[in-house]
Amino acid sequence: MTHLTRLEYIKIIIIKVFKKVELLLFMKTLIVYFTMGGRTKKTAEAIASALTTHEVSFFPMKLTGKFIEKIKMLDKFENKDFSAIESELNTLDAVGYDLIIFGMPTYGSRPPLAFDEILARMGNLSGKKAVVFNTARFTGGKALDYMKTKVEEAGTQVIDQRKFRKLFWIGVKNAIKFGKQINERKE
Ligand SMILES: Cc1cc2nc3c(=O)[nH]c(=O)nc-3n(C[C@H](O)[C@H](O)[C@H](O)COP(=O)(O)O)c2cc1C
Repeated sequence: MTHLTRLEYIKIIIIKVFKKVELLLFMKTLIVYFTMGGRTKKTAEAIASALTTHEVSFFPMKLTGKFIEKIKMLDKFENKDFSAIESELNTLDAVGYDLIIFGMPTYGSRPPLAFDEILARMGNLSGKKAVVFNTARFTGGKALDYMKTKVEEAGTQVIDQRKFRKLFWIGVKNAIKFGKQINERKE
């Protein structure tokens, strides 16, 4: 085992203390998203990449498998059957987070029913800050307004919102820009 000089030892302690302080100062952020085709996941991850002053955790709700399996699962969710992901949903806990970012695709001008289920599971979110975003191919309709209203009804203060609408290829440029905007907020 190599012996550390006193200076090296002090350096290590200082770095450790800085890391602890940094973690305490970082905003604790939870990104909850739903995705079937990967566009909302891509957007959520791009936003997260710009949150350099946040300690980010994810709660992803991903439909996996072949297209037909995804559609079947979506159908179950739209019929309020969440039994397949019950154990994941039970781990959903907003305690300890300052900011919760909700990201949803648009299905028939509204978010998937999974959004309402997630919110119901989270219970009272008073005192939390929230950001809502959605992805869409056409208009997205009033889906984002719906998300904002529901999240506010759960007790949060919505500090930002954004619709990412692209008919074909959804890039990450606008999502990173949006993430930077959230990151630079002082309050
Ligand atoms: C069943 C279904 C319904 C959709 N309805 C709408 C809609 O009403 N308006 C819209 O702009 N896009 C609509 N879309 C497109 C999706 O909202 C869009 O592709 C979204 O980015 C998908 O996100 P994901 O890849 O994360 O699942 C719909 C897609 C599906 C599969």
